[in-house]
Amino acid sequence: MGSKDNRQVYEQGQKYIMNTYSRLPVVFVRAAMAYLWDAQGNKYTDYIAGYGCLNVGHSNKTVVKAIKKQVEKIIQPSNVYFNLPGVELAQKLCEATGFGKKVFFSNSGTEAVEGAIKLARKYSIQKYGQNRHEIISFYNSFHGRTLGALSATAQSIKQKEFKPLLKGFKYASLNDLDSVKKQIDENTCAVIIEPIQGEGGVNCSDRGFMAQLAEVCNKRDILLIADEIQTGFGRTGRMFAYMYYGIIPDILVVAKSLGGGMPIGAIITGDMLAGLFGPGSHGSTFGGNAASCAAGCAVLDFIKNKRLEEKAAKSGAYFMKKLVALKKKYSIIKDVRGIGLMLGMEFEKPIASKLVEKAHRDFLVINKVSDHTLRFLPPLIISRSNIDKLIRWLYKNISEVQDEG
Ligand SMILES: Cc1ncc(COP(=O)(O)O)c(C=O)c1O
Repeated sequence: MGSKDNRQVYEQGQKYIMNTYSRLPVVFVRAAMAYLWDAQGNKYTDYIAGYGCLNVGHSNKTVVKAIKKQVEKIIQPSNVYFNLPGVELAQKLCEATGFGKKVFFSNSGTEAVEGAIKLARKYSIQKYGQNRHEIISFYNSFHGRTLGALSATAQSIKQKEFKPLLKGFKYASLNDLDSVKKQIDENTCAVIIEPIQGEGGVNCSDRGFMAQLAEVCNKRDILLIADEIQTGFGRTGRMFAYMYYGIIPDILVVAKSLGGGMPIGAIITGDMLAGLFGPGSHGSTFGGNAASCAAGCAVLDFIKNKRLEEKAAKSGAYFMKKLVALKKKYSIIKDVRGIGLMLGMEFEKPIASKLVEKAHRDFLVINKVSDHTLRFLPPLIISRSNIDKLIRWLYKNISEVQDEG
């Protein structure tokens, strides 16, 4: 990039890259743990961690070392051979979940969801016949942008321009078991759920609802797919959020933080489904390539060695306490919610965009999921002083934005 500044790169990007995100005119050229530096050398503190991809922090040294070591040896042996880090990572994932027996690697979250849909359909169709292929998901969910995952993403705003979507998807309301039961019939094959809806607004499933949902599914041999692409790898104070909820899914899909910044996703299943995909059932050219898997192994080791789940639980409780105090002070704050270090703040008025822009000007990277809601997904290594810094900023700036009307 040479000596180009933020504005020049931003304009070049606007010219050559499709406009699929509303981008701010900042270009980050370097990062370390909870910090990012832009093209002008300004240092930013990060409270979104690449949309939840950097639970272990940006360019984490353990991860970088593992990637470097691997790329010097072999990057892509092809999937007709096993590669060492891939095998090691699959075993680590099975052990980390407790119930996992086999893994399929993809490149991204949406591809992991696609694979999970195929796996669930294969199981049900094989056992009960062709009609049993329907999947239930939840309003405000987000499962990805490819057509299968988009069909499960029950948000009309994201779906409307791309119809017809895949057949066989039905939608229910989160935390409303009756609405799920209403959608269940003899053709239901699976239910897919984010334990906490991320993109949909940091909406937490209730513990009781999740337990009852798991029970209903179990009784009727309906597969429960947990989409932990955002909630996984310590984010909620547990390795996976299903552990917080005290349930065991039939299929777990993960991605984002698994690669510590490298592209990788995974489907993890227990005994019942582990042998279902055979040669030709499913595949991916790059899925589980050696470089991404080496990163994944380093991520899992780092989480374990640094006890990041515990850290997330403690830092999350501290952060939440501060957000609750903030809410008491400002009537414009409608709600604060979340678990661990996955937190949201909803406003009575659409001030979220204004706050995100203001924060960037003050070198704080925060994120909104809508005009009304901010989402905080900091790296799990975030310090208390960085939480305090954001809270101080929120006190000052919410009051200013509120006064601006
Ligand atoms: C819960 C959830 N599922 C699926 C996805 C899609 O993942 P990806 O963007 O890696 O395809 C996301 C991405 O934000 C997500 O949060």
